[in-house]
Amino acid sequence: MTQRSEHGSGSGLEAREHALVTGGSSGIGWAVAQRLIDRGLEVTVLDLQGPVEPHRTGSRGVRYIEVDVTDEVAVEEAIKVASATAGVASRLVTSHGIRGAFVPALDLDLDMMRRVLDVHVVGTLVVARAMVRAMAGAGGRPAEGSIVTVSSTTAFGGWANQADYGTAKAAISQLSRNLAVEWASLGIRVNSVAPGHTLTPMVQQMIDQGYDVAATEARTPLGRLCTPDEMAASIENLLLDATFVTGVCLPVDGGWTTVGK
Ligand SMILES: NC(=O)c1ccc[n+]([C@@H]2O[C@H](COP(=O)([O-])OP(=O)(O)OC[C@H]3O[C@@H](n4cnc5c(N)ncnc54)[C@H](O)[C@@H]3O)[C@@H](O)[C@H]2O)c1
Repeated sequence: MTQRSEHGSGSGLEAREHALVTGGSSGIGWAVAQRLIDRGLEVTVLDLQGPVEPHRTGSRGVRYIEVDVTDEVAVEEAIKVASATAGVASRLVTSHGIRGAFVPALDLDLDMMRRVLDVHVVGTLVVARAMVRAMAGAGGRPAEGSIVTVSSTTAFGGWANQADYGTAKAAISQLSRNLAVEWASLGIRVNSVAPGHTLTPMVQQMIDQGYDVAATEARTPLGRLCTPDEMAASIENLLLDATFVTGVCLPVDGGWTTVGK
């Protein structure tokens, strides 16, 4: 895929389209970064850390910038650096995230509640608007852009022990709908995915701590967990191909949310 290297300059210079992927050092974000490289995009990962094992090698041209997505000044600086290297980004996938405390609301530490909301919700807004500001700052004709945020199936219903994480994920879906309406006139689509259980380091850690994966598989109509690449395929579709889709939250969950009990 290509975009003009100078928005509206009429220079005729073509540059590769540039995508930002938060949380792209691990799990779903890593798989998204690989797929976007395969589609011919420049890819910059914004993450607290560099690529995790087993991804330390073989990331095929992905650029990594270590940054906390909740730090707006640092994110704007990171995007400036990324733009100077690969052009202004017009595609964004926000796949950063942390687990919640998974405790009853009565026992939930408020610092934990604030951190989970900060990382998931504020971090998503910080990166999204930093990219849109950079696009606007580039001037010229409005570039086509798109954003996919990452919610969760926990956003769709009420669950015990999800006062932090589930609330943050529901807020991400709502934030995405609001941004979709606000930024449509800028030519920017905003959608979210709601992943079901996907076998990433985050979920592997849960399994190692005794999470009942067999019960999850049994409740899922497709009868198994999602792979990171399958999740990335749906994100790629919303980001690059579904050009008349904006403001949706797509469950990618093997039918989990469709089950009536
Ligand atoms: N794996 C699942 O089953 C599942 C299900 C539903 C939703 N999700 C969501 O999908 C997203 C990706 O999850 P994953 O399973 O790939 O997790 P993961 O732990 O493998 O990757 C998350 C990445 O986010 C980064 N990160 C965390 N806090 C950050 C911060 N403040 N700034 C920058 N980077 C930060 C981490 O360093 C890590 O590389 C998360 O939002 C998660 O909540 C995952």
